[in-house]
Amino acid sequence: MEFIRVTPNARPQVALIELNRPKELNALNLQLMQEVAAALKALDDDESVRAIVLTGSERAFAAGADIKQMAGRTAIDMLIVDQFTVWDQIRKTKKPLIAAVSGFALGGGCELAMTCDMIVASETAQFGQPEIKIGVMPGAGGTQRLTRAVGKARAMEMVLTGRPISALEAERAGLVNRVVPVGQFLEEAFRLAASIAEMSPVAARLAKESVNRAFETHLDEGLHFERKNFYLTFASEDQKEGMAAFVEKRKPQFKGR
Ligand code: CAA
Repeated sequence: MEFIRVTPNARPQVALIELNRPKELNALNLQLMQEVAAALKALDDDESVRAIVLTGSERAFAAGADIKQMAGRTAIDMLIVDQFTVWDQIRKTKKPLIAAVSGFALGGGCELAMTCDMIVASETAQFGQPEIKIGVMPGAGGTQRLTRAVGKARAMEMVLTGRPISALEAERAGLVNRVVPVGQFLEEAFRLAASIAEMSPVAARLAKESVNRAFETHLDEGLHFERKNFYLTFASEDQKEGMAAFVEKRKPQFKGR
């Protein structure tokens, strides 16, 4: 891996992926995104990992897709390179994925954070879709995920003016789970990941799938999907253990089976 660092057990059962292109403020070139997708696939397959934190540096989570890599391309070059296919793979990560964001989360950087399941932000984080300032528009889900997260009026303003919002505005708008001082954002993301890692991985996977389905379908189909997944949790040993532990007044030991 050239542009990322992967630590499978950064904390017990919690993995860390760090974007590591500091000179370019973690601009997301194709190779970096391919590395992220490959790392997520490997961590998804690693049974010792139950939750994943994705982070950048204190200065920049990521300043967007790599403008220098894209600048000279034609539409047909873009079609052939098809840089967003790899984003679809990232979206399919089965384990809970938390973005720990500090500094710039702009363009593809904001879109990558939104592709994660939750966002923990430092006070210095700023979220924006500035693509309009360079004559294009968001292409990695920004118009869709931002609108679902913060509503039409705010998304329109961000996408049409390119102006970013602060971490606190992002928290108020529902884009971000919580904002903490800059020295604590990674630890706070680990804390959130650890509290998920204590749960049944089977239930977490099925619950994540079901919440995501709420964005992809209508209510009737979503409720049907949720019910099937709820019933499926009863096929797990974790369901037996979780309910027995409640009755016996002890802490459950989940195995992911
Ligand atoms: N692509 C390529 N390189 C980038 C980059 C990007 N998105 N963002 C920053 N860099 C590079 C700069 O070119 C600079 O490199 P050099 O030192 O070699 O010149 C280095 O990172 C540091 O950047 P700055 O000197 O500009 O740092 P700054 O503190 O003055 O400004 C910034 C920081 C406001 C983030 C500014 O760099 C900036 O505006 N970056 C571009 C943000 C942007 O437009 N992002 C959207 C990209 S398009 C996209 O993402 C499409 C999509 O939907 C997928």
